[in-house]
Amino acid sequence: MNYDLAIIGGGPAGYTAAEIAGKNGLRTVLFEKSNLGGVCLNEGCIPTKTLLYSAKVYQSAKDSAKYGVSCENVAFDLSKIIARKNKTVRKLVAGVRAKMTEAGVEVVSGNAVIQAKGEGEKAKDVLSVECNGQIYMAEKLLLCTGSETVIPPIPGLNETGFWTHREALDNKEVPESLAVIGGGVIGIEFASFFNTLGSKVIVVEMLDEILPGMDKALSGFLRNELTKKGIEFHTSAKVVAVEHDKVEIETNGERQPIEASKILLSVGRKPVLSGFGLENLNLEIHRNGLKVNEYMQTSNPDVYACGDSTGFSLLAHTAVREAEVAVSHLLGKNEKMSYKAIPGVVYTNPEIAGVGETEETLQAKNIPYTVKQLPMTYSGRFVAENEQGNGICKILEGTDGIISGVHILGNPASELIVIAGIAIEQRMKAEELKAMIFPHPTVGEIIKEAL
Ligand code: NAI
Repeated sequence: MNYDLAIIGGGPAGYTAAEIAGKNGLRTVLFEKSNLGGVCLNEGCIPTKTLLYSAKVYQSAKDSAKYGVSCENVAFDLSKIIARKNKTVRKLVAGVRAKMTEAGVEVVSGNAVIQAKGEGEKAKDVLSVECNGQIYMAEKLLLCTGSETVIPPIPGLNETGFWTHREALDNKEVPESLAVIGGGVIGIEFASFFNTLGSKVIVVEMLDEILPGMDKALSGFLRNELTKKGIEFHTSAKVVAVEHDKVEIETNGERQPIEASKILLSVGRKPVLSGFGLENLNLEIHRNGLKVNEYMQTSNPDVYACGDSTGFSLLAHTAVREAEVAVSHLLGKNEKMSYKAIPGVVYTNPEIAGVGETEETLQAKNIPYTVKQLPMTYSGRFVAENEQGNGICKILEGTDGIISGVHILGNPASELIVIAGIAIEQRMKAEELKAMIFPHPTVGEIIKEAL
């Protein structure tokens, strides 16, 4: 079977590329060994956001009196919350499948393995992939194999029945207490979820602040907000050993036990580079991922890679853009991948989001900047809708007046950050963005106000 493009991995990178390639007339085959949609749709972005939304509804119902609404006997049923999450995932996976059909993409369910040159039917100048005993020949190959959870060698960990995000998503009982190892995005989102449902949550983070990569001051502000809600944080603390209901942490050389009925491990993810015959291609590796150029070509120009397998950004929205760039190059256009305005969002309640440079990255590069910052309460709409809860909007401006970073804590930061991302990608000056008309009253006006 001959194709113009074979894609391994049906997550956001793979299915986006397949759809564009198919619609543009490329004979495309997409291999997926599990479910279409990948980690993002099946056990990452979408299911967590579904659970977090249920938690938010529950919290709003409990807080309703502050808004003049009575709501008695507020309760939740975790099995129903999870059933709704599963329904949402099924619906969206079916949507991806329909897109593939519409684009004329052949979807093959199974584990694809790249063959060594010379193996397989007439493999000479084309690449060949084996799946379910069949050989598929393709002119070009796109690797979108994603990432997997990092499991560090912590003594005792493997004997505990710890959770990763995967088990945490499907557990039907709220643990009495939960120790979260790693205060990154996954750890903090689950901490927020289980805290809202009533677990005693303790977060252990190795660095001196949670959410590395986000604006440090805003991360600290969020940590304070979550502390007020009952989450316990141990920063600059390393987990040194684990027993089934005890996590031993070390802070400034001092050891301390933490009791918890469950452990969630969230210390990072790493690219998946094995199990699909990668060794037969001899590609260059860079920082644990597949090395790619600005067109998403690996060190073999006929082989492209997008998404978490490049080990660079590990975000679904980056993967989607990388896939657009890769297929555009395959189709003879010259779009290049730009990483300067990739928004980062943590969907806690309140949300935190940022795009572009942070004060920390600018300082590390010795780039001068000024800060424009306002409390979210300067937005009338924010005050109208947030009876309690603070927030901050922080904008970083270069000496040339160009906006270099925007960081927001407060709902709905995840939506507002899009405005900032566009401004940064377009290299807009602060005065240009300020001259735009923002609808009133919206929370987004805070950006104009801050400028
Ligand atoms: P992460 O890289 O975001 O955070 C891991 C954290 O664990 C870091 O803060 C690190 O300092 C800490 N850590 C490492 N070893 C430790 C130890 N032994 N003890 C204590 N702390 C330790 O990784 P995470 O949260 O697992 O997420 C993985 C990937 O998934 C991320 O790259 C993220 O971009 C992506 N993701 C994105 C989401 C979003 O955009 N909302 C949601 C969930 C995941």
